[in-house]
Amino acid sequence: MEKPLLTLVCLVLLWSCSSDNADEYVPAPVALSVEQPANFPEIKYNMEANPPTDAGFELGKKLFYEGNLSSSGVISCGFCHEQASAFTHHGHTISHGENGLEGFRNTQPIQNLAYFSEFTWDGAAIHLDLQPIIPITAEVEMNETIPSVLEKLQNLPEYPDMFNRAFGTPEINSERMLKALSQFMVMMVSSNSKYDKVVRGEDGVEFTELEAEGRAIFNEKCASCHATDLFSDQTYRNNGIPFNPKFKDEEQGRQRVFGYVSDFYKFRVPSLRNIEYSFPYMHDGRFGTLEAVLDFYAFGMAENGGEIDPILRKKDGRLGIDLSEHDKEAIIAFLKTLTDHEFLNDERFAEF
Ligand code: HEC
Ligand code: HEC
Repeated sequence: MEKPLLTLVCLVLLWSCSSDNADEYVPAPVALSVEQPANFPEIKYNMEANPPTDAGFELGKKLFYEGNLSSSGVISCGFCHEQASAFTHHGHTISHGENGLEGFRNTQPIQNLAYFSEFTWDGAAIHLDLQPIIPITAEVEMNETIPSVLEKLQNLPEYPDMFNRAFGTPEINSERMLKALSQFMVMMVSSNSKYDKVVRGEDGVEFTELEAEGRAIFNEKCASCHATDLFSDQTYRNNGIPFNPKFKDEEQGRQRVFGYVSDFYKFRVPSLRNIEYSFPYMHDGRFGTLEAVLDFYAFGMAENGGEIDPILRKKDGRLGIDLSEHDKEAIIAFLKTLTDHEFLNDERFAEF
């Protein structure tokens, strides 16, 4: 009897001596899986290269709301990407960041990015992991450098532990920081709007007559570009939006990326999910309401110096989509069914 007891005591001692205190016990990260809603296209993000875990997600969330990613210590990702506005910047047509400096584009929503392969209005970011480098280093956004951010994180007490838990050692480097931000962002799936419930036949949810009518008109007149249940075909198109002289030196649309004149004023077709809350609209936030957007599609298009998408030209060559007042009303009723209150209020993504 004596010997086994002694061994046990020794083992307990050994175990308790091997770590200075019980707090250092690091639980293994638990794998998270990104939803694949039945009505969505397939996931584009390479999950194997960066499999999300609870610890990676928590770290990514903390970084997303971390002011120290900016030079002043105040402008976090969440400063411009606010949950209640589908992670856009409420009240701002174009983004403003450090020192009150303004960019020239409207903040995009952060939702369903796991299903997209290219990012920003012009597709300049071809990998989600690389996208955050743009706002962190842009003078008009966070005005920081990656080495300086890493150094600040190193000196904040909570980060080495969080990196340890997420990646197995406390080392803080840019790859880990960017991977954690992606782990947070790929989990941000909005797929529980009224629309989703209707198309998936859930809970006996049905469209009203006006919504159903709006959906039919939308499918006929809008869905060639705002395609799939992401409401974007992920191509770059010129939708006949009038040229904005205010940003004549900066904004060329996708031409900025490869320099092709044929890409002038083409933008990635935006998803219309949670569109009720992500106003103002378009790459420069020029329209404050959905009514204004539909008036634009009906009679506001103009030659803008680029190649306007041929489907927006009528048989007689004029630009525009034929829409009656009733059509516009019905389309707006339909677009509002894309609001996902569960997503907009999901505590997993909330700052506090
Ligand atoms: C100063 C405001 C501002 C801050 C801060 C900011 N963003 Fe953005 N974000 C924008 C704007 C504006 C765009 C559109 C950029 C463009 O098209 O050039 C954007 C676009 C994006 C996109 C692309 C979305 C899509 O559908 O393609 C992602 C992802 C993103 N931001 C993530 C982040 C992350 C992560 C951070 C923090 C590291 C961050 N943003 C900080 C304003 C901001
Ligand atoms: C030829 C392709 C095409 C068609 C057809 C089209 N759109 Fe668009 N839509 C776009 C592009 C591209 C943009 C972004 C343009 C920009 O930002 O300047 C856009 C922007 C929008 C926006 C603003 C989204 C945001 O996040 O700011 C809304 C709303 C919208 N479209 C609704 C519609 C509706 C409703 C219809 C049908 C009446 C329609 N679109 C038809 C390509 C199209």
